[in-house]
Amino acid sequence: MLTKYNLKLPHAVFSGEDALENIPAILAENAVRRLAVFTDKGIEGAGLLELPMAQVRKAGVETILLDDLPAEPSYLEAQKLVDQCKASGADFILAVGGGSVMDTAKLSSILMTDEYGIRELLETPGRARKCMKTLMIPTTAGTGSEATPNAIVAVPEKQLKIGIVNAEMIADYVILDAEMIRKLPRKIAAATGVDALAHAIECFTGNKANPFSDLYAMGALEMIFDNIDRACDDPEDMDAKRQMQIASFYAGIAITAAGTTAVHALSYPLGGKYHIAHGVSNAILLAPVMRFNEPACRDRLSAVYDRCFRGKAQTQEEKSAAVIARLEGIVKHLNIPTSLQGFGVPKEDLEDLVRSGMEVQRLLVNNPRLVTADDARRLYQEVL
Ligand SMILES: NC(=O)c1ccc[n+]([C@@H]2O[C@H](COP(=O)([O-])OP(=O)(O)OC[C@H]3O[C@@H](n4cnc5c(N)ncnc54)[C@H](O)[C@@H]3O)[C@@H](O)[C@H]2O)c1
Ligand SMILES: [Zn+2]
Repeated sequence: MLTKYNLKLPHAVFSGEDALENIPAILAENAVRRLAVFTDKGIEGAGLLELPMAQVRKAGVETILLDDLPAEPSYLEAQKLVDQCKASGADFILAVGGGSVMDTAKLSSILMTDEYGIRELLETPGRARKCMKTLMIPTTAGTGSEATPNAIVAVPEKQLKIGIVNAEMIADYVILDAEMIRKLPRKIAAATGVDALAHAIECFTGNKANPFSDLYAMGALEMIFDNIDRACDDPEDMDAKRQMQIASFYAGIAITAAGTTAVHALSYPLGGKYHIAHGVSNAILLAPVMRFNEPACRDRLSAVYDRCFRGKAQTQEEKSAAVIARLEGIVKHLNIPTSLQGFGVPKEDLEDLVRSGMEVQRLLVNNPRLVTADDARRLYQEVL
């Protein structure tokens, strides 16, 4: 556990009923004239953009729509939107979408200069400073990107996804309005919900865990264990969806204070090379990696059991096993695949996967148990 720690948070977070109605006041408070609206075609197609835009119209500001963004963009695809934003003369950024949209908007907020772009930030993420304030409205629950200083892009030449971390990217304003996830399709709700679960359990068991991250990670875990099934299974259960939205925000704060571990590290090549959705690749690796980590974080998993399950298990071993079984049960219940079969990952690619996965030392150093190349190989073999 860290002995020195700090926490940077968004300036203001609005949640609860009709939270979107705060938009006009936020825009007025910042004297916004030209608003860059980041979103994607999926959000527009679902009719979701209209909800915040109705509020934006009340503020009477000019808007520029930036929506030509694929899910989980490469840094080159994200750079195109950054360039459009730069050329637009916008003075404030609104992002309405999942992690892909929010991450691109966050990069734009620190890239109003011609001196460098996302490619350069991959090498030296710390050089950029905030140029424009941001308002994040997540539509998945979720990546927690609305809370974190991270933006993740695919880097095709490395066949990896890479996280750019810079506290200047932390959102200024966040609106968590459950209306934005009311009709989230079950498949996306399941994958993004398990992503939030992975954030929380990885942060709680990681080497960088600290009292700040623990508070939010444990809070997120309790809410996710209680709500994820209902939020995905019952389209009408707005209370469960609201809880998931807050939990994924909490898990994002836990990432800001601590960081994820080997589940995320080993999943980056799966997203980067085979374009497996971020939540799905994490879900596939979640139980195998947690089983591998268990001897090194038994006490932490046991604490999760005591707080979240309050069952009859007696020993730490029984308790941590029950937590891992629940993680596995959630993935199965939500019908997320538990192996890479069907994703076109040939067994011959194993060594490439191991090489790429081991490159993600930024996260692997945070894993409670040392992961060697042999360990990574065994873990990938388990899910191939
Ligand atoms: N910055 C961070 O801290 C952080 C953390 C985790 C993941 N990520 C990154 O975020 C990305 C994944 O984000 P995501 O999982 O939120 O998915 P996403 O943003 O990639 O969206 C996936 C698909 O779902 C659609 N969609 C989103 N919300 C919807 C809704 N309410 N209704 C209908 N369709 C909807 C989108 O249009 C898109 O087609 C990855 O690139 C991942 O690496 C970032
Ligand atoms: Zn994640």
